[in-house]
Amino acid sequence: MQLSIGPLTLPPFSARAPRTVALLLCFVGLIAAAPAQAPRFRDAALPLDERVEDLLSRLTLEEKIALVHADTKFTNAGVPRLGIPPLRMSDGPHGVREEISPDSWKPAGRTDDFATALPVGAALAATWNVDLARAYGGVIAAEARQRGKHIMLTPGVNIVRTPLGGRNFEYFGEDPWLASRFAVATIQGLQAGDVAACVKHFALNNQERYRGSIDVVVSERALRELYLPAFEAAVREAGVLSVMGAYNKYLGAHCCENDRLLNRILKGEWGFRGLVMSDWNAVHGTREAFLGGLDLEMGTRKPFDEFYFARPLLEAVKRGDLPLAPLDDKVRRNLRVLLATRALDGRAPGAMNTPEHQAVARQVAAESIVLLKNSADLLPLDLARVKTIAVIGDNATRLQCHAGGSSAIKALYEITPLAGIIERVGGRATVIHAAGYQPPVERGTGKIDAAGIAQTELDAAAEKAAANELIDRAVAAARLADVAIVVGGLNHGRDQDAEGADRLSLALPFGQDELIARVAAANPHTVVVLVAGSPVAMDPWLERPPSVVLAWYGGMEAGHALADVLFGDVNPSGKLPVTFPRRLADSPTHASGSVRNYPGENGRVFYDEDLLVGYRWFDAKAIEPLFPFGHGLSYTKFDFSPLRVSSTGSGADLRVTVECEVRNSGLRAGAEVVQLYIEPVGADVERPPQELKAFAKVALAPGESKPVRLTLDARSFATYDPTVSAWRVAAAAFRLHVGGSSRDRRQTVEFHPPAAVVLPR
Ligand code: BGC
Repeated sequence: MQLSIGPLTLPPFSARAPRTVALLLCFVGLIAAAPAQAPRFRDAALPLDERVEDLLSRLTLEEKIALVHADTKFTNAGVPRLGIPPLRMSDGPHGVREEISPDSWKPAGRTDDFATALPVGAALAATWNVDLARAYGGVIAAEARQRGKHIMLTPGVNIVRTPLGGRNFEYFGEDPWLASRFAVATIQGLQAGDVAACVKHFALNNQERYRGSIDVVVSERALRELYLPAFEAAVREAGVLSVMGAYNKYLGAHCCENDRLLNRILKGEWGFRGLVMSDWNAVHGTREAFLGGLDLEMGTRKPFDEFYFARPLLEAVKRGDLPLAPLDDKVRRNLRVLLATRALDGRAPGAMNTPEHQAVARQVAAESIVLLKNSADLLPLDLARVKTIAVIGDNATRLQCHAGGSSAIKALYEITPLAGIIERVGGRATVIHAAGYQPPVERGTGKIDAAGIAQTELDAAAEKAAANELIDRAVAAARLADVAIVVGGLNHGRDQDAEGADRLSLALPFGQDELIARVAAANPHTVVVLVAGSPVAMDPWLERPPSVVLAWYGGMEAGHALADVLFGDVNPSGKLPVTFPRRLADSPTHASGSVRNYPGENGRVFYDEDLLVGYRWFDAKAIEPLFPFGHGLSYTKFDFSPLRVSSTGSGADLRVTVECEVRNSGLRAGAEVVQLYIEPVGADVERPPQELKAFAKVALAPGESKPVRLTLDARSFATYDPTVSAWRVAAAAFRLHVGGSSRDRRQTVEFHPPAAVVLPR
């Protein structure tokens, strides 16, 4: 047998003299051993931690420093010497953001970064369908892989505390259980595709106004019971690989430098082993961030090698001012994420803009649409009877996906409401369009904020001049039509649903109250479609139009999804993830009218409403909301059978099952969201009157019944007890209410947890 090592052909071993053989063996050994000596960190078969330790042991101090701060807008430097790629990340949360220049916020000007624009976070939550959240995460993962991204800056899970919050549209609503279910499912969908999620913004980033400096004063219970659960579930249930610190302060320290939040709660109590990155330009000091639990500094407004975790950190470690061990821990966490995404092992190829991705976008958008009101069954529209349709409003033609701040997407295409309606009508009716209102012209100021948001100013004078004439024309169009559809609401412009600022009022902007009132007076068959990510006031006109639909920002398929619902191809099944108040003063954050509660005074904002956020407040204070949390109508009707409750285990092992039959008693197929709220009876501590603890979405053909099973555990009944720093269930009684919204409770059963219990942390 001849052994071949490249060009040299050797005789068989036996034919050679012993010394030659020994030498040759040595030579051959070296070559043959080469693959066996491939660094252990490259061996995909080894446990992740072993690979991380091996890689860490090979790094110089300078290389470690290069891993813990940004080297471009959205990467760190990697370790070129060892072939370790930069950790590449992208916004988030609604798809993969367009490519940004390495060292400025200017778009990179690429043509391969048109992406699938999914509906916004609030819309996803409004589906109450966690399977869709998993699919949503899967779409983003595939597109992220195609774009070479390791981390997607998604999901955003901050609780909607005020209806004015500029980023409410990105988040999963006002309830911690709902938000945590959507956080978990989105993260699972994403990370199953070898892309790390980055849950944000940890924590208490509940307003945009003063977001960089405001110090949140909140009780321990509200922190644990409302503001942290979605993050906790992201870590403990979904195994999220990264977390983004928030801009604001808590306990006097910025959240990206916050020992209590990052070291004690996140990494200590919850055992988080992934990496904590800063929000962009949210770090304020080397020592504070280094000891405060931050692992990766991003977006600081300085040259990259001047970042707090760049040269200043290198020098501090060299001088011995800061210890090496925490630096190693930070590097470990960065490497763990990189390796967990299989960045060194060859990930499956990605895919962009596939028909499947577009189908997910459309399904999420359609299932998110909430039918708020439908008196006289005006909807769904029947093209056998409707021959002229007036589509009125700026949002009928406005492209939304490319705006809103860091969540904007360079959509491959976007079907506007008008385009979707025209396509669906397909020439069977005449569609006429009138603008109805004109948002003020926004002029760029040439300034860009820390997050890369171009700053604008408004031309309010032009707005006033246009308003009357536009309304007159819209009314004329409505008179000509069998049905008028006003597509209004908010947009992603300045002071609307946009990052960097909160809204200034609950009212619909741009003169729409008058527009809607006059169109509805001119045509009794008026449908109002609201495109918005936050509650808006409707009292000035709500009595008049028979139908009101909340369509959110539905992503690139928004117009198709809206037409699906308006014409009855899809039966609406969305439910509100936030309460719609009648007026701002009805909502907890604004009830006092004091700046202390919003937006804050002397640098601090006090969450005095405590546990009573969202519907918890409206229930406790017996305030009638405009539309309650969980509300959403259907074109059919559902009946709920009496409940059966059973339980197994006790203490921390308690499992409670609540079962009922849901029946579609109408004539159309549809889906109902079965919602379970617990009401404590005789609790030994203050508790909200009811809290959502389980839900399930069930699709039913006309006349069909299905059993629905909802499960609860000890934590479902527990409150956080700051005196023992743990979750505790008092042996109180509970009423379990099941129904179609927080105010549409159909069936109730009593339940007594077998014994009081303190849950392990
Ligand atoms: C936002 C983050 C975003 C980051 C990067 C920040 O301004 O708060 O949500 O991920 O910018 O664009």
